[in-house]
Amino acid sequence: MTPGKPLQSPETPGKHFETPPVSRILSGIKPTGTPHLGNYLGFLKPALGLSQTHEALYFVADFHALTTVRDPQVLRHHTLDLAAVFYALGLDFDRHMFFRQSDVPEVTELAWILSCITPLGLLERAHAYKDKKARGEEVNHGLFAYPVLMAADILIYDSTHVPVGKDQKQHLEITRDLANRFNHLYGDTLVVPQDHIEDEVATIPGLDGRKMSKSYNNCIGLFSTEKELRKSVMKIVTDSTPVEEPKNPDTCNVFALYRHFSTKQDQAAWADRYRHGGMGYGEIKQAAFEAVNREIAPFRERYFSIREDTPRLNGILEQGGAKARQVAVKVLNRVKQKVGLH
Ligand code: ADP
Ligand code: TRP
Repeated sequence: MTPGKPLQSPETPGKHFETPPVSRILSGIKPTGTPHLGNYLGFLKPALGLSQTHEALYFVADFHALTTVRDPQVLRHHTLDLAAVFYALGLDFDRHMFFRQSDVPEVTELAWILSCITPLGLLERAHAYKDKKARGEEVNHGLFAYPVLMAADILIYDSTHVPVGKDQKQHLEITRDLANRFNHLYGDTLVVPQDHIEDEVATIPGLDGRKMSKSYNNCIGLFSTEKELRKSVMKIVTDSTPVEEPKNPDTCNVFALYRHFSTKQDQAAWADRYRHGGMGYGEIKQAAFEAVNREIAPFRERYFSIREDTPRLNGILEQGGAKARQVAVKVLNRVKQKVGLH
């Protein structure tokens, strides 16, 4: 996995902390569906790249998934999917921590403590809540409080950098706000983390050109079979410019995907063909399918080699949870001491 953009240097010096924040990368993903190419490019690939050079903690955000998932089998299923994805992409489970959010229950204690210093207005402005409410959908308390639990996820491990897609930027701002508030009220206690967003892959479009998202049903599965992958790529929406006419690569959904799986040289060659006319969208779709498949195929094989081994996947999660919990307990104790709970 190639390292992406370099980390900004950590903001808070380590002098106040038991676990000095040299640089500790943390991120989470909800087990709410089958991972797609947007997750891969916007989150998984950068996260795996960073793990080659920095200490990393990655987790399956199952508490967060409970805000929407109602079927216990589905939750378990998607949790194991994600464990298999991280295995397939080659995360070193001995060197790093990979775990289930709910295997570190201390995070809910910190979430409560943080919720007591969270102004309601901050949560009312959060996009996820606002958008759902505007659409007239069910909004439960878990969804409203989502950003506070997410802040606890990050702050309980003294994380310094959080690789995510652009849609998570506001959550990171809320996290920073809460960490600063806490430090202001109780003295330096929490590391103030930074988001780490790869600008190039900030938002990957889906089949219909909107952001690729499980909620829009416009995804290309990360580990679908080769046949399914080809079928999905062929379904990407294009305009109806006839073959012979020039086309614009910069507004084409197929090119938007292709560029993430090809060299600059190949992109330039295809961009020329777009602009000259005489190229049909079928051709670039075939090229895009081949390019994606070339990169994904080895991971796909590893994915299917472990996906049915539930005991092994659960073992990986449990081992990671035990390690992560040791860090969380220390930070939570520091917080409890500060607020007067110890
Ligand atoms: P979804 O929107 O499909 O439910 P998640 O919210 O589970 O995806 O996102 C998991 C991670 O993948 C987050 O870090 C998010 O920013 C990133 N991500 C999701 N969709 C995209 C996309 N289309 N482009 C870039 N990054 C994405
Ligand atoms: N909110 C994130 C998403 O929807 C998932 C998440 C939960 C997360 N806790 C986190 C991401 C902590 C980064 C850090 O994708």
